[in-house]
Amino acid sequence: MLRFSTAGESHGESLVALLSGLPAGIPVDQEFLDHELWRRQQGYGRGGRMRIERDTAHILSGVRHGKTIGSPIAMTLANKDWKNWEEILPVSPGDPEKHKAVKSPRPGHADLAGALKYDFPDARYVLERASARESAARVACGAVAKMLLRSLGIEVASHVIRVGTAELSRPATFAEIAAIASREEVLLACVDPESEARMKAEVDIALRTGDTIGGVFEVVVHGLPPGVGTHVNWDERLDGLLAQAVMSLQAVKAVELGRGVTAAQSLGSTVHDAIAYEGEPATDPATFTKFSREHNNAGGLEGGISNGEDIVVRGYLKPISTLRRPLGSVSFETREPTKAAYERSDVCVVPAAGVAAESMVALTVARLVIEKFGGDSLRELQRNYAGYCDQIRSF
Ligand SMILES: Cc1cc2nc3c(=O)[nH]c(=O)nc-3n(C[C@H](O)[C@H](O)[C@H](O)COP(=O)(O)O)c2cc1C
Repeated sequence: MLRFSTAGESHGESLVALLSGLPAGIPVDQEFLDHELWRRQQGYGRGGRMRIERDTAHILSGVRHGKTIGSPIAMTLANKDWKNWEEILPVSPGDPEKHKAVKSPRPGHADLAGALKYDFPDARYVLERASARESAARVACGAVAKMLLRSLGIEVASHVIRVGTAELSRPATFAEIAAIASREEVLLACVDPESEARMKAEVDIALRTGDTIGGVFEVVVHGLPPGVGTHVNWDERLDGLLAQAVMSLQAVKAVELGRGVTAAQSLGSTVHDAIAYEGEPATDPATFTKFSREHNNAGGLEGGISNGEDIVVRGYLKPISTLRRPLGSVSFETREPTKAAYERSDVCVVPAAGVAAESMVALTVARLVIEKFGGDSLRELQRNYAGYCDQIRSF
């Protein structure tokens, strides 16, 4: 089973990622891995921290001579800011005078609930782990999952479809969305320059007024055959697994599959994707069967199973909780009203959250692909996969 976990504090020495359950023989591209990490750090409205960090994944195990060897992959991502925090956040008891307490919990963060739960006198340790810095370790794991999926012809990409009230004004093709990953400068990761300019204007207002802003990203999986995930058990449904994976990202407050939200206010006849039979064997490798659809309102998922259309997952991001003009809070020391603590912060992270969500989606899909097609080596997996694709093409 494909599993991953992460460890590390936001201002600790390093993030740690552990990924196990991959077959042997997947080519590992360090440049691609680091480029994915770079993408997570980009976007208009990021804070000062992103100017300090330039992430790279240091692979310790599980990869030899450029390929996976089937054993767990351990990676570390050094925090460049550690040199400024070594004395503030030491592993040893250290000097209590140097501790940088978070004395008034920030609304919208785990600060208060976490301090209560873990019996901490201030919110420092809660902040350190709840921070989305952790998502960098997820992106490192997700990059390796993408390398596996690519070797089967499956691609995962994301773009931003809304920032505040500014929305993408037209549909986007998969090729346009995928091309965003190779942009040298990431503004708001929108396929349409006019829509992107409106999105930027919304971020500018938040920057000017000491506020923050949220939005919506869309992740698309292209080239996944029908039959991944299942209707037979609730906890094996691909729709449920994707929703959980994307919802687990910091600041994501809703997940939509396909046209899920508008479908709830529409008539069935306008929502469901009529089925046609082409009769000819498909020539495009991303067309897996002789059946076709008029549109893809279901977002490639019916009954918790992939149906061969692109998987479309949207994540709705709340505005960032740390405000330059902080909201009201209470002092942990005096219990008197005060302003919430402020620590260097982002103003808009929708493109970065999209990149982190690509990783979560890639890891989820890769897990189910490995479960369905099996194999200890990539060659075995590819053979099983090709056999299944032949089977459904001839259906
Ligand atoms: C890529 C990314 C970067 C983030 N950066 C910040 C930040 O700089 N400041 C902040 O207050 N919240 C930031 N967040 C959101 C918080 O981590 C998150 O809102 C907080 O931990 C509370 O968790 P919840 O919103 O999931 O309930 C970021 C989220 C993501 C996905």
